[in-house]
Amino acid sequence: MSRLQGRVAFITGAGSGIGRACAIRFAAEGAHVVLADVDGERGERTLQDVEGTTPNHALAVTTDVTDEASVDAALARGAERFGKIDLLVNCAGGSLADDASVTDVDMSVWSHTIDLDLKGPFLCCRLGIPHLQRAGGGAIVNFTSVVALKGAFPGHVYTAAKGGVIALTQAIAGRYWRDNIRANAIAPGIVLSERVAERLGVDSAAPREQQLDTAMQQNNRLVDARHPFGYGMPEDIAEVALFLASHESRMVNGAVIPAEGGASAY
Ligand SMILES: NC(=O)c1ccc[n+]([C@@H]2O[C@H](COP(=O)([O-])OP(=O)(O)OC[C@H]3O[C@@H](n4cnc5c(N)ncnc54)[C@H](O)[C@@H]3O)[C@@H](O)[C@H]2O)c1
Repeated sequence: MSRLQGRVAFITGAGSGIGRACAIRFAAEGAHVVLADVDGERGERTLQDVEGTTPNHALAVTTDVTDEASVDAALARGAERFGKIDLLVNCAGGSLADDASVTDVDMSVWSHTIDLDLKGPFLCCRLGIPHLQRAGGGAIVNFTSVVALKGAFPGHVYTAAKGGVIALTQAIAGRYWRDNIRANAIAPGIVLSERVAERLGVDSAAPREQQLDTAMQQNNRLVDARHPFGYGMPEDIAEVALFLASHESRMVNGAVIPAEGGASAY
């Protein structure tokens, strides 16, 4: 399979969860991957995973997506190593456990979450798009969430940040089509990355189906029992990202793809 042959993907948050799954999947489809994670050890772990199956396809660069100089340097290193960057997968993000309603939340949660979940993808697009332009075009995959599609999440700061990601993605799509660049976003439901599994009390060493069953039994108010397909594993979301990064989605631009089993539809 070589759906991404000759492509070079800059993947943030590649050290774990969905970002890691994207890195492994993209490399298996022929892409070179730049693994940009603030946690160097996690980045190295993903590097070993990718190199184990697809040697010489990955570079790990410790990167803080909230820091302009750090993102700029990581993109430059990736482009230097692999000749270009033509895919941006802006995956680094996540909510804090003490995120809360707008009237109750501590403003320190605001700073952290807006920096990571909105400023992060903004900076990666700001500094990454010139690389895509130099490459003659490319694709951007941003990460929003089901929380931005329906107002049911108790964490209002994360909800606001992910709503911003949707607006940003549409604005980028409406501006950079001229440069042969598409921008889309994925809105996952509940994905059992290690972080989320731990928060839900799910044993991430258990078999896949067992993990999903345990998570579903919680009858979460975002993705309840009527939405059994709204619970997934990082690999499920990597498939959607692969589609949006590949030429197979050449007619898809400025879209938000819900990957939440219909939770925002019914
Ligand atoms: N897991 C879910 O249920 C879910 C649902 C909807 C949306 N999402 C979104 O999908 C994306 C991935 O989620 P996940 O659960 O796989 O995440 P995760 O917590 O498993 O991984 C996030 C990675 O980002 C890295 N990171 C954190 N801060 C960073 C920074 N400043 N710079 C660079 N890297 C940084 C972490 O080290 C970690 O390796 C996030 O944007 C998240 O908001 C996740």
